[in-house]
Amino acid sequence: MNITLENLKKTYTSSTGSITAVNGVSLDIPENMIYGIIGRSGAGKSSLVRLISLLETPDEGKVFYNGERVDNLSKADLIQRRRKIGMIFQNFNLFSSRTAAQNIAYPLEICKTRPNVIKERVAEMLKLVGLEDRGSAPVSTLSGGQKQRIAIARALAIQPDILFCDEATSALDPQTTHSILNLIREIQAKMSLSVVMITHQMEVVRDACEQVAVLDNGKVVEQGLVTDIFSHPKSEVTKDFLSHISADASAVQQEKPSLLRWSEDGGKYTLRFIGSATGEPVMSRLSKKFDIEYNIRAGGIQHLPAEDIGTLITDISGEEGEVKKALAYLKESGIIVEEEA
Ligand SMILES: Nc1ncnc2c1ncn2[C@@H]1O[C@H](COP(=O)(O)OP(=O)(O)OP(=O)(O)O)[C@@H](O)[C@H]1O
Ligand SMILES: [Mg+2]
Repeated sequence: MNITLENLKKTYTSSTGSITAVNGVSLDIPENMIYGIIGRSGAGKSSLVRLISLLETPDEGKVFYNGERVDNLSKADLIQRRRKIGMIFQNFNLFSSRTAAQNIAYPLEICKTRPNVIKERVAEMLKLVGLEDRGSAPVSTLSGGQKQRIAIARALAIQPDILFCDEATSALDPQTTHSILNLIREIQAKMSLSVVMITHQMEVVRDACEQVAVLDNGKVVEQGLVTDIFSHPKSEVTKDFLSHISADASAVQQEKPSLLRWSEDGGKYTLRFIGSATGEPVMSRLSKKFDIEYNIRAGGIQHLPAEDIGTLITDISGEEGEVKKALAYLKESGIIVEEEA
């Protein structure tokens, strides 16, 4: 299911004043993919997701599901519509007094599903999330990762056409985060589900999302393919997020540090190799073709769901004209060249 947002606005007023949490957001969220929404704390992510998932109505603007306006539905239609929306949260929101299976059954009971259908669906969902032997376990005895698996099973039990994940992995350690993201990716592909993933972690975007919107101060500052945004970040917020991802040793994919630096000095040029270009011996060709020398200062590969991006931070020395020609050659070969100002 695709979602279109048209100039959404939402202002909250409290005793301390009023704050416009969502300030004119327009977005097209394509169907059948994992779409990320990233922003710092307080950027307005949760507020935006409450509007998109029809939990709250915007002060201004419109929400369309598959081209049909849904922000102004009647109460009865809204209840129907919301039954096809799945949500998972950072703190799982499970009933601790119920077993895993009873938690998954809960939304089905609300929809007055027949008991034998519930039983079947619950077993199917437990299997889907890899916990078929834990159905009778009280939720309080499960680990954080298992709790999130049960929350995913509960969200999918109603067979939603869209799944919202609001910081679904923020309470989990890197390994568990990785396995939950893999599960969501698997399920997305298997069910052709549309997933909107809210996060403040660039690692989550890198490891799970195909497209992303960057939110800051209630506004979309950047949006597009994750591969493009990682290779050509435009906004300061995005650059800031990306600089933390390489410096943060506790990144989701710990075993793959994104940049290895073997010299603190130099590094005037940042070269980014996308997809197939990562396998080409471009640098050695460069020094054969032109009268230049290069000195690599740092390098690494980022693995994205769609493509890999290789990064080399390097100096290129030689006569000005030769260096210029070499840079032009790199660009012609499909490599993105950024020059330090
Ligand atoms: N119900 C509310 N009443 C008053 N202010 C609110 C309400 N909901 C959100 N806000 C304010 O709107 C702004 C955006 O909040 P929001 O929860 O959407 O941010 P967020 O991006 O989800 O942050 P986090 O990453 O910390 O979850 C904040 O300044 C917050 O205090
Ligand atoms: Mg939030």
